[in-house]
Amino acid sequence: MVFMHSKVNHRGAKILVGEVHHNEPRCREHYCLQIRCQQFPAAEPGQFVHLIHQQHPLPPTARERNHEQPWMNGPPSSSNELLIRRAFSIAGIQQLDPESVLIDVIYRVVGKGTRWMASQRPGDPINVLGPLGNCFTTQPRQQSALLVAGGVGVPPMIWWAEELRRRNISTVAIIGVQRADLLPLKLVPATMAQWTGYPPIFAIEEFARSQVPVLITTDDGTLGTRGWVTDALQHYLTEQQPAPTTTQIYTCGPEVMMRRVAETGEHYHFPVQVCMERSMACGMGTCQSCVVAVQDDAALDGWRYELCCSDGPIFDGRRLRWTTDTYAH
Ligand SMILES: Cc1cc2nc3c(=O)[nH]c(=O)nc-3n(C[C@H](O)[C@H](O)[C@H](O)COP(=O)(O)OP(=O)(O)OC[C@H]3O[C@@H](n4cnc5c(N)ncnc54)[C@H](O)[C@@H]3O)c2cc1C
Ligand code: FES
Repeated sequence: MVFMHSKVNHRGAKILVGEVHHNEPRCREHYCLQIRCQQFPAAEPGQFVHLIHQQHPLPPTARERNHEQPWMNGPPSSSNELLIRRAFSIAGIQQLDPESVLIDVIYRVVGKGTRWMASQRPGDPINVLGPLGNCFTTQPRQQSALLVAGGVGVPPMIWWAEELRRRNISTVAIIGVQRADLLPLKLVPATMAQWTGYPPIFAIEEFARSQVPVLITTDDGTLGTRGWVTDALQHYLTEQQPAPTTTQIYTCGPEVMMRRVAETGEHYHFPVQVCMERSMACGMGTCQSCVVAVQDDAALDGWRYELCCSDGPIFDGRRLRWTTDTYAH
């Protein structure tokens, strides 16, 4: 095992060197990565980890021995190495033994960082900063939850579904992907007839362990219902009529989709928690690269910026000042 030193940041997150336990394709473009980490701090669904390759310690050079800064020896990394970490929602955490956990990450290969992740093999070291950000919450009177996710917005919902089950909250997931071969989840052949009214309902391994039935939509109709996940949400709300006073909606995925979910929620008076995404350089509130505009009546123009990494990534949908055009879908 490669467990090594750790540093603690100001909010209790740690920088740890974990080890790749498992890393395999889930569908055409998604992989599931499990990282074994020792002494990972307590984390909550909605939080994320910030990953980068582990730099191999270099033997001290003559200059370092003379107390000069390491960067004075020239660029430390080859052109294949990443300059900044990449953010990924925690899709689940399992305790392996009293000292170590397995952290699940489901990721879509879109660029240099995720290509590097896909090349990692069991036993490879990986540098983990986390847990970062805030988490999903429930209300005292809450009895049910609707999870609405699109594409790479699915991973945080897996862990949140487990926690909702633990809190005895009845949950349904509505998941949209472009095509059947981009679903980053495992279909189980059995049906879950907990609720009938808007077929088809799928049993998905990752949600079945929390007894959460899943409605699937695909843009091209290759699996589930053809159409957008937001249409399925609208249909569910009108057909099933859950009570807005005891139900909360949670959403994660493309911004245009989340905006529609937030607007639908507002229309039917449901609270909506939105898991926002921004490019994040530091992940800890220092670099200001991840701003999200929120309504603030006390501010001069009625709005201000908050930071996705440290004030979020979970925001109250009613507070968000959307800049994405919902009709650009
Ligand atoms: C809090 C948080 C949680 C996330 N959780 C997941 C997850 O569970 N699974 C997953 O697959 N991805 C997740 N992402 C997105 C993930 O961080 C990016 O896909 C990843 O950084 C891309 O790195 P790359 O080097 O492969 O791609 P790059 O070469 O950096 O970028 C490739 C393309 O992706 C876009 N992109 C890069 N980073 C982001 C970003 N943060 N938001 C939106 N677009 C981006 C770029 O603009 C570019 O078009 C999350 C992001 C955040 C902020
Ligand atoms: S990523 Fe640096 S402030 Fe948010």
